[in-house]
Amino acid sequence: MSADAAFGYAPGKIILLGEHAVVYGQPALAATLDRGVRVAVSRLAEDAKGPVLRGAGFGIDVTGARPDPGGAGPEPLRRALAKLVELYGERVRSLSFVVEGGIPAGSGLGSSAALSVAMIRGVHRFFGETISDEAVIADAFALERVFHGTPSGVDHSVIARGGLVSFQKNVETGAVHLESVTLPRRLRFAVGLAGAHAGTAHAVGALRERAKRHPRAYQRLWDAIGELVVEARGYLESGQLGALGELMDLNQGYLNALGVSTPAIEALCSIARDRGALGAKLTGAGGGGAMIALVDDDPAPVVRAFQAAGYGAFAAEIRAASSANDADEDPSARNDSLPTHDTAIAVESTP
Ligand code: PMV
Repeated sequence: MSADAAFGYAPGKIILLGEHAVVYGQPALAATLDRGVRVAVSRLAEDAKGPVLRGAGFGIDVTGARPDPGGAGPEPLRRALAKLVELYGERVRSLSFVVEGGIPAGSGLGSSAALSVAMIRGVHRFFGETISDEAVIADAFALERVFHGTPSGVDHSVIARGGLVSFQKNVETGAVHLESVTLPRRLRFAVGLAGAHAGTAHAVGALRERAKRHPRAYQRLWDAIGELVVEARGYLESGQLGALGELMDLNQGYLNALGVSTPAIEALCSIARDRGALGAKLTGAGGGGAMIALVDDDPAPVVRAFQAAGYGAFAAEIRAASSANDADEDPSARNDSLPTHDTAIAVESTP
């Protein structure tokens, strides 16, 4: 039996170490954030002409997106809605999705994967159906391919699983090894926003072209990043944050060498290190977007320093011994009221 209204929630994510190399079969460490995307699902008043997606405060205008070709809304969102109909049937056409985003879109914090997972959970709750984590991951990958072309799958996998994970994909077979990693102590970050990026597919594609021209040189970089990810996992599990921060700095050096850093990201990393951060690096595809600075204590001074330099910034944390259930829990919205209008994302002080 379907409900009158249902919510789906999914957290945003950061890649702690290993982005880009993960596309070439190396392991990456990623974790869900304490903020995310919430989708309210209800039945459309009008006749089955949907699904319709609303919520202008997501950093991109999703007001009134519909799946029909040539219809309202950005193309990838329309195709993602069409994919939802393909996955779950014509009944989805009678649904309205109202999105509240607590993470900015297009910044490498997993907004598209979180939206995908939140919609999938919301649809199932609305129709009173259960869905396994494995099925969420499989279906979210179908939506992520609509958004990003040929992603490694790290974003939606960590978002659907929750907590801190190690992700590795066999590039020949496509088989994924996804393993939860236990954190003995929470990790605290200042997140800085270095402007919109040109998109994950663009960054990955341009890098692939460069790597094709110098395959041996790039292979050495993939291997080096993979090795530091394996070493960093040990530091995470034993709570040695100083050593972890050093490897984040090293990883950022490699990302710069790969050509995916920017002057703004480098400036944010310098500000963070000057303010005593243990380590700082971009997170996600780069070319803009978000960077993370690991701190020992209160992230507020680093957040304020980012803001004083004119960058959007917020504090984030990854909880100790995060459990898979975290992925399904909305930390920001504990009430049952439906958002009925477009709502703004809560990114403090975005210039
Ligand atoms: O979509 P983003 O910005 O979180 O980047 C995903 C991580 C990459 O390694 C750059 C791409 C991928 O598919 O793994």
